[in-house]
Amino acid sequence: MRRWLRWLGVIVGVLLVGLGGLIAYVWFSSESMLAERFELAGRAVEVPTDAASLAEGKRLATARGCTECHGLDLGGGALDVGIARFWAPNLTSDPQGAASRFTSVEAWELAIRHGVGAGGRPLLMMPSDELVRLPDDELGKLIAYARSVPPVSRPARDHELTIIARALGVFGLFPLLPVTVTDHALAATPKPPRGPTVAYGEHLVRMACVGCHGEGLSGGRIPGTPDSIPEVANITPDPETGLGRWTEEQFKTALLTATRPDGTAIDPFMPAKSFAAMDDVELSAIWAYLQSVPARPKGGH
Ligand code: HEC
Ligand code: HEC
Repeated sequence: MRRWLRWLGVIVGVLLVGLGGLIAYVWFSSESMLAERFELAGRAVEVPTDAASLAEGKRLATARGCTECHGLDLGGGALDVGIARFWAPNLTSDPQGAASRFTSVEAWELAIRHGVGAGGRPLLMMPSDELVRLPDDELGKLIAYARSVPPVSRPARDHELTIIARALGVFGLFPLLPVTVTDHALAATPKPPRGPTVAYGEHLVRMACVGCHGEGLSGGRIPGTPDSIPEVANITPDPETGLGRWTEEQFKTALLTATRPDGTAIDPFMPAKSFAAMDDVELSAIWAYLQSVPARPKGGH
């Protein structure tokens, strides 16, 4: 019995030392990840000042998801994901806001399309892996709009990372530092012109939908997500589990109102408030592209 107890003690001791070691490893690796600096150069884009461009910048700030995190007034907002809490900073011309702290267009481009902040610091949770696809003209209008909105003064908060978030970040299961998974070359590739075309639709879907619906658009569980996050729907033309029986009108209504043809609500995990700001050209293009992809059964991403 006593020998058995002694062994139990040894096993528990080894496990505790192992756990301590793992925590220390995660802590130091995540600190060194956060301390890394990225020497990327931002690229200038033209920033318009006319009223039509500012109005379009305002629409894009919602349609492209910025207001989801930075707040409807762009004054900054908290992003609570359970295992961590992030602060999406103030983008207005308040003295604390990016529009007054950023002195060059290049700094905006670097932050938005590459996820790199002042001094080469990696920006946490800023989705540059998707936003790297923003065309120059949209980027210019977004910057113009941020510079023109009324300044907002809101106390900023620090990011709060639990050890779990750090561990998932270190093992690549959580998009802590989008700069490291951004295909930076995409910033300079030509984009299809805006129009209700399959090509423009593919561009939008790659930027706004594949992150959740998967490369093949057949949905399923997003790898590494907890059960509280719903399974993602199949949006290929599969008639059983996909959009095969939907009409274009039903699809547009679903995106604008987060409601399916049968009247049920689409889970708010999908950023429907952003999609409600999409215009008819964008929705028509997305529909055209979704009609063109091969039907796949649900799942497998
Ligand atoms: C998923 C949430 C999210 C979305 C969507 C998002 N951002 Fe961010 N953004 C952040 C967070 C969080 C930071 C701060 C990261 C840090 O400081 O480590 C940030 C940082 C920035 C910065 C740098 C600000 C500074 O003071 O350094 C700019 C500029 C910016 N975002 C613009 C945008 C624009 C424009 C869009 C839309 C096209 C957008 N963001 C969409 C979360 C988001
Ligand atoms: C943040 C993740 C996320 C993003 C980004 C996203 N979706 Fe979804 N989408 C979901 C989830 C999750 C569901 C299933 C929700 C439910 O079960 O209620 C869904 C459901 C749908 C549905 C309803 C389909 C059905 O059969 O119920 C459509 C249509 C849809 N998405 C289209 C899109 C399009 C188009 C885009 C890009 C413009 C997009 N989604 C971007 C997560 C996302």
